[in-house]
Amino acid sequence: MPTIVERHKTLEKNITLLGLCSLLVVAIGGIVEIAPLFWIDNTIERVEGVRPYTPLEQAGRDIYVREGCYTCHSQMIRPFRDEVERYGHYSLAAESMYDHPFQWGSKRTGPDLARVGGRYSDSWHVQHLKDPQSVVPESVMPSYGFLAERDLDVPDVAANLTALRRVGVPYTDRDIGRALADLNAQADPEADAGDLAARYPRAQVRDFDGDPKRVTEMDALVAYLQVLGTMVDVNAAAAQEKLATEKGR
Ligand code: HEC
Repeated sequence: MPTIVERHKTLEKNITLLGLCSLLVVAIGGIVEIAPLFWIDNTIERVEGVRPYTPLEQAGRDIYVREGCYTCHSQMIRPFRDEVERYGHYSLAAESMYDHPFQWGSKRTGPDLARVGGRYSDSWHVQHLKDPQSVVPESVMPSYGFLAERDLDVPDVAANLTALRRVGVPYTDRDIGRALADLNAQADPEADAGDLAARYPRAQVRDFDGDPKRVTEMDALVAYLQVLGTMVDVNAAAAQEKLATEKGR
């Protein structure tokens, strides 16, 4: 009967056996760490107020991504004192759970935008996007004035929402059926918004770009900027988050 030391010597001298056993050990370690994330419910805990974007906000978000705003702006407030004092309550994981792709970012030539919603008026945003230096003289942000000239043209609004639903955003059949109507109604206070406000709580319905006659890319982008960070009552949510962590321990 070989002793444990002798067995270990055999293992150390046989490179194939050693390789296989090492792989086995690493695989067990990996599975133990990763597998539970697929099942435990609180990987992303639910926070009250978080809802999918309206079609208009989502269209604005797509313009944000298309124009590469993320190359200068992040959307994640870290839990550090300097960040919280400057930008507001740190970002919660649930606040970006319906973001595809997420915009956390690591590059901040400009400020973090995770809570920019409601901080400025619509007309400030329009003026700033058309000519940033007219409101912040030292700004290095480029001008995006052309967005106000371009009609918002989303080839298939319903298809966009359907694609997002496939990756887990809980749009209902009604949201998808009314996608185009919702998109136009949110930017036009005269239009009949139907049950938009019931399906998208706290959705802001108004003309965003100062030109009520048409729906432009500027309308969509400003609608998106104005919703950022406004869905959750952050202080109440932080209390919830604290509770959830305590429960988890
Ligand atoms: C080249 C880098 C750059 C790009 C690209 C850029 N920005 Fe900015 N942005 C800045 C800088 C710098 C500031 C701070 C000065 C200012 O307010 O203009 C800023 C400020 C802002 C602010 C005001 C934030 C605050 O809290 O005061 C908003 C809103 C904003 N940008 C939106 C956008 C959007 C939307 C886009 C894409 C269409 C964009 N930015 C693209 C650099 C950039």
